[in-house]
Amino acid sequence: MSMDDLMGNPISVKVSELVNETESVSTIIFDIKGADFNFAPGQFLMIWIPGVDEIPMSISLWEPPKVGITVLPVGEATDSLTSLQPNDWIGIRGPFGSSFTLESQKALVVGGGVGMAPLRPLAVALLKKEVEVTLVIAAKTKQDLIFFEEFSQVSDTKFTLRTSTDDGSVGFKGLATDAVKEILKENEFDTLYTCGPELMMRGLYDGTKDSRMSFQASLERFMKCGCGICGTCALDPTGSLVCVDGPVYTGNNLSKISEFGKYYRDAMGGKKKF
Ligand SMILES: Cc1cc2nc3c(=O)[nH]c(=O)nc-3n(C[C@H](O)[C@H](O)[C@H](O)COP(=O)(O)OP(=O)(O)OC[C@H]3O[C@@H](n4cnc5c(N)ncnc54)[C@H](O)[C@@H]3O)c2cc1C
Ligand code: FES
Repeated sequence: MSMDDLMGNPISVKVSELVNETESVSTIIFDIKGADFNFAPGQFLMIWIPGVDEIPMSISLWEPPKVGITVLPVGEATDSLTSLQPNDWIGIRGPFGSSFTLESQKALVVGGGVGMAPLRPLAVALLKKEVEVTLVIAAKTKQDLIFFEEFSQVSDTKFTLRTSTDDGSVGFKGLATDAVKEILKENEFDTLYTCGPELMMRGLYDGTKDSRMSFQASLERFMKCGCGICGTCALDPTGSLVCVDGPVYTGNNLSKISEFGKYYRDAMGGKKKF
C-alpha cells in the first residue's frame, strides 16, 4: 500500500453549501469532483480545517460529486467548521474505517442527536435495497431532531419514521432506549443499527443482547491519525483501533470491549467517564 493510500489520499475541497439542520447543527457540503473515492455507510473522513485542527467526521451525504458532513459544534475545530462559508477550502482524507453491513430484511435504525449523521446514508442504502426500515430519530426536543423534515417526506411503504424526545415535544416522551423497548413489544427486526450517545448505545445493546437481533453500533473516540498509525483510538482491553477496526462494531465485537458505555480517553490518554 502506498503512503497516500494509507493516509487516505488528502485533497482540498471547496465548500459549496451549508444547511442548518437545527439551531446549532449544520451540514457542510463540498464537491469531490475528479477524486477517486469509494464509500460505504458508516465510514468517516478526516477533515482538516486550515490553521485549526484535523478531526474525524462521519459522512452524512453521499451523492458524488456532492459529499456532506453534519457537525455539532463542541469545541474549536467543530466551531470553525460550522462557521465556514461557501467557497472556503478544507482538506479531506479517507473515507476510513468499517461500515454497516446491509444484510437485513427488516431493520431498526436508532439515531441519537448528531449520531444521525452516518445513519442517513445507511437508511437511504437500506431503502434502495428494498429493506423494511423503521427509523427512530431521538433528541432532547423536537427542535433538536436531525433530518426529521427530510425523513418525514419519505413516502416508501417499507419505511416507518418514529421520533423520541426527552421532553415529549414530538413522538415518544423519554429516552430513546425506552422508545425502542415500546417498539420491540409489537415488532420484530433482524438487525438494530445505532449511532449516538454511547450510554444510549450501551442501553440498546444491553436491552437486546439476548434477542436474535444482530446489533451494529458506530463508536466515537479521540483520533489523531485516523488510519491506524498512532494508536490513540485503541479500545480496552483488546486494543481494537476505532479508526481501522471501527467505527462500526457488531454486538459480538462489543461484548469484548470493556470500556463500551463506561469510559473513553481524552487527548492526553486520560480516562473520562461517560
Ligand atoms: C469516527 C467519528 C465520527 C464522528 N462523526 C461526527 C459527526 O458526524 N458529527 C459531529 O459533530 N461529530 C462527529 N464526531 C466527533 C467529532 O470528531 C468531535 O466532536 C471533534 O473532534 C471535537 O473537536 P473540537 O476541536 O471541536 O472539540 P474539542 O475541543 O477537541 O473537544 C470538545 C469536547 O468534546 C470531546 N471530544 C472530542 N473528540 C471526541 C471524540 N472523538 N469522542 C468523544 N468525545 C470527544 C472532548 O473531550 C471535549 O470534551 C466523530 C468522531 C469520530 C471518532
Ligand atoms: S487515530 Fe491513530 S490509530 Fe486510530
